[in-house]
Amino acid sequence: MATVTEPRLKTRRALQTKLLIDGQWRDSVSGKTFATVNPATEEVIAEVAEGDAADIDLAVKAARRAFDDQRGAWRKMDARDRGHLMSRLADLIEENKDELAELESLDNGKPINESRTADLPLVIDCFRYYAGWADKIHGQTIPIRGNYFCYTWREPVGVAGQIIPWNFPMLMVAWKWGPALAMGCTVVLKPAEQTPLTALRMGELALEAGYPPGVINIVPGFGPTAGAALVAHPEVEKIAFTGSTEVGHVIMKDAAATLKRITFELGGKSPNIVFADADMEAAVHGSLFGLYFNQGQCCCAGSRLFVQDKAHDEVVEKLAAIVKARKLGNPFDPATEQGPQVDKTQFDRIMSYIEKGKSEGARLVAGGERHGDKGYFIKPTIFDNVKDEMAIAREEIFGPVLSVLRFSDIDEVVERGHMTEYGLAAAVWTRDIAKAHAIARRLHAGTVWVNCYDVFDAGAPFGGYKRSGIGRELGERGLDAYTEVKTVTVSLD
Ligand code: NAI
Ligand code: MG
Repeated sequence: MATVTEPRLKTRRALQTKLLIDGQWRDSVSGKTFATVNPATEEVIAEVAEGDAADIDLAVKAARRAFDDQRGAWRKMDARDRGHLMSRLADLIEENKDELAELESLDNGKPINESRTADLPLVIDCFRYYAGWADKIHGQTIPIRGNYFCYTWREPVGVAGQIIPWNFPMLMVAWKWGPALAMGCTVVLKPAEQTPLTALRMGELALEAGYPPGVINIVPGFGPTAGAALVAHPEVEKIAFTGSTEVGHVIMKDAAATLKRITFELGGKSPNIVFADADMEAAVHGSLFGLYFNQGQCCCAGSRLFVQDKAHDEVVEKLAAIVKARKLGNPFDPATEQGPQVDKTQFDRIMSYIEKGKSEGARLVAGGERHGDKGYFIKPTIFDNVKDEMAIAREEIFGPVLSVLRFSDIDEVVERGHMTEYGLAAAVWTRDIAKAHAIARRLHAGTVWVNCYDVFDAGAPFGGYKRSGIGRELGERGLDAYTEVKTVTVSLD
C-alpha cells in the first residue's frame, strides 16, 4: 500500500496497489511492480503489482471455479439477489464518490469538476441500471411444428476477460462489470497500465458489498503480457475490449485460436456537421464540448468539424475566441477546464499530429504547442482549411486538436463524412428537424446526436460501425455480449 501525496487531495487514505484474485489481495507471482504516474506533475503516485501470464492464470482459475461450482455462492444466488448486490455496490460507490473522483483525477489528470459531475454519476447510474436488469432477463416459449414444448433460457456466457483503457478508467469498469455481473458471469479485469488505481478501489468496494471470492478478479499489468495472456487463456469464454483499433486487430487474431466471443469498442474520427441554419451559440459550444471534453481523449470525439460555407467564418471565429480563454492547469482546481494528456506517449503522439497538420498546410488558428513545462499539457488547438485527405482528417488524434472542414450541401457532407474507416459517432446541428432525421438515418455511425453531443445514458446502446467496433455496450443490447441462448425442446407425446 502507498499513501497519496497530492497536497490538494482532501481524502487521504492508503491506496490499494495489489492484484485481486479469488477475494484476496496479492502481490504478483513475479514480485514485479510498475509505477503509475500523475500526468499533471510527472511524479510517481504509487508502485502497483504487475500481473502477467502466471497471475492471469490464477485469476482465470478463480473465476472459473466461482462460475462452475453449482453449490457455490454465485451459482446459487437468485437473480434478484444478484441485482441487490449490484445496487449495494452502487450505494458504496456513491458513499465514497468524493474520494473516487479525486483518485480518478490524480491517476488520469482529468479536471476534478469533470470526475465529480460526469464520471461518478455515470458510473453509479450504470450499476443501478444493470442491477435492475438482473431479474428481468428471460427466455421465450416458441410455437414450433409438432407436439413439442419449446423454450429458451438466456444463460451467462461464462468467464469474461475485460480489457479497458485509461480515458474513463472507472466508467469503463462500470460498462464492463454492469452487464457481465447482472447476467451472472464471473470476470477478470485488466485495467490500463496508465490508470489502475480506481479499478482497484472499486474491487475493494465490491468485496465490501459482498461479491463472493472469484466473481470479480482484477489483474493490473501491460497489454502484451497480462492482456495477451487473458485473450489466449483457454478457460476464458469471452473478451470485451475497449482501446485502439490497432490492438483490436491483434486481439481478434489471438482470440481466434480459442474461438472466443468478442465485443470491441475501438477508435473513431467522428463527423460533427454544423449547418448554417443551426442555433449557432449551441452549435459552437456543443462542438467544443464534443472535441475538448476529457482533453480530447474520447473514442467518440467530434474531431472532424464540418461547417457549412455560409456559417464557416463566424463559427471559426467564435471557436477560436472561446478556446483561447480555456483554463488549463492543476486538475484539482475546481475552475480548471482542461488537464494534462494521460502520459508522455499520448503527449508525443498528439504533438506529432500537430506538426503534421502544420506541414500538410492546414491553417493553425489556435494553440499548436505545449502548455507550461511540467505535466503533459497541450494548448487546445484548432486547424482550419483541413482537407479530407490530410492525416489530421483521417487518423484518430485522441487529443485537444480540432480539424475544421467546409462543405456546401447535404449529399456532399454525408459522402465526406463517410470517408473514414471508422463509424462510431456523428452529430448534426440544424433547426430543420426533417433534415436532421434524414441525415441521422444515412450516416454510418453507431450513435448520432442531433443538436447535442456526448449525451450518454446507461439505457442507450453505444458502439461502432465499421472498424470502430463489434457489438454494443449499455442498454438491453449490452447484455447480449454476455449471453448464451439455450433452446430446450420437450416431446409432449
Ligand atoms: P491500447 O489499445 O494499446 O490499450 C488499451 C488496453 O489494451 C490497455 O489495457 C492495454 O494494456 C491493452 N492492450 C494493449 N495491447 C494488448 C494486447 N496485445 N493484448 C491484449 N491487451 C492489450 O491503447 P493505447 O496504447 O493506450 O492508446 C493508443 C491509441 O488508442 C490512442 O491514441 C487512441 O487513439 C486509442 N484509444 C482508444 C480508446 C477508446 O476509448 N476507444 C481508449 C484508449 C486509446
Ligand atoms: Mg498501446
